[in-house]
Amino acid sequence: MKDQLRRLEPDFWRAPSAHNTQPWTLTYTDGEAEIGWDPSRALPVSDPTGRDLRLSLGAFIECCLIVCAGAGLSVAFRPDPGPRRAGFLYAAAQPYATPFTTADIRARGTNRGEYHPGRLPDSLVAELTGMRRLACRDLADLLYAADLHQFGDRDVTRELRAWLRLTRRHRRYLLDGLTDRALALSRAEAAGLRASLALYPALRRLGLPRVLAGASRGLLDYDGDVLVLVGPVSDELELGRVLMRHWLTLSGHGYTTHPLSQMIDCEPTRQALADRLGVADPRSLLHVARVGRPKSPAAPSARMRT
Ligand SMILES: Cc1cc2nc3c(=O)[nH]c(=O)nc-3n(C[C@H](O)[C@H](O)[C@H](O)COP(=O)(O)O)c2cc1C
Repeated sequence: MKDQLRRLEPDFWRAPSAHNTQPWTLTYTDGEAEIGWDPSRALPVSDPTGRDLRLSLGAFIECCLIVCAGAGLSVAFRPDPGPRRAGFLYAAAQPYATPFTTADIRARGTNRGEYHPGRLPDSLVAELTGMRRLACRDLADLLYAADLHQFGDRDVTRELRAWLRLTRRHRRYLLDGLTDRALALSRAEAAGLRASLALYPALRRLGLPRVLAGASRGLLDYDGDVLVLVGPVSDELELGRVLMRHWLTLSGHGYTTHPLSQMIDCEPTRQALADRLGVADPRSLLHVARVGRPKSPAAPSARMRT
């Protein structure tokens, strides 16, 4: 199993993860593969509860199963939570039953550029179990408040900066993190962001957070959809698998996603979003993303396995 899975790792690694940290590890033992995570790739400041870590691990598990099935391998996943462990991939009697293919995994990607106006068909939203829909424009105020909160927090901003690759000269540009191209920034915008983040400690009190938050001000000012994944916090790993399947469903219909996790990372905006959705427990809001038809394709994101 080890050699067969090893060959498929570049496709497993196409799974999405917050800040593109690729926090998962795959360790081959006794005919099984243990899925764990590397704490140096977690985001302790911006993801203190590990919500995005578990969603990302769930997405990775789903990717592994789809890619194995595509290669004709009968592989299943057994949860076995432990210190830094999610569970095991093991040889099963049948291949994983899935409508998705390795080509679907390769075709999916986050797109942070402009989207065409238009809402998702009701029938498609109905297929996405656990997803709730809101109009973009109705959330523009919350996004601005969340961005202001994010960029006003020096530790969150420092952690984000560690995963930014805003120049092609960055030594990890082709490996991980968020590149200028993946963030849909022009060279001038990337250079501006790099310079302002370098001066962040000095400029923070002079209003830099407002300038940085202002950069995304118009992002939700169009006729589009935001989808919110709602579910029990105790099921985050499983819901990461669900999220991956939903993203693949959307991508198969020509839609891309642009996560906006800051809206649920910030306590007040998370509460406000829960109120607008009529959800009693704000902790059950697990993921937020705008979804639509992109005006142009996005640059593929970097990976450590290629
Ligand atoms: C749980 C989770 C949270 C994410 N949160 C954000 C976010 O707040 N903002 C953002 O721009 N992208 C976010 N992303 C998207 C990742 O940055 C993206 O998946 C990663 O860079 C890999 O790129 P790809 O999706 O194009 O393969 C998130 C992804 C996951 C899985």
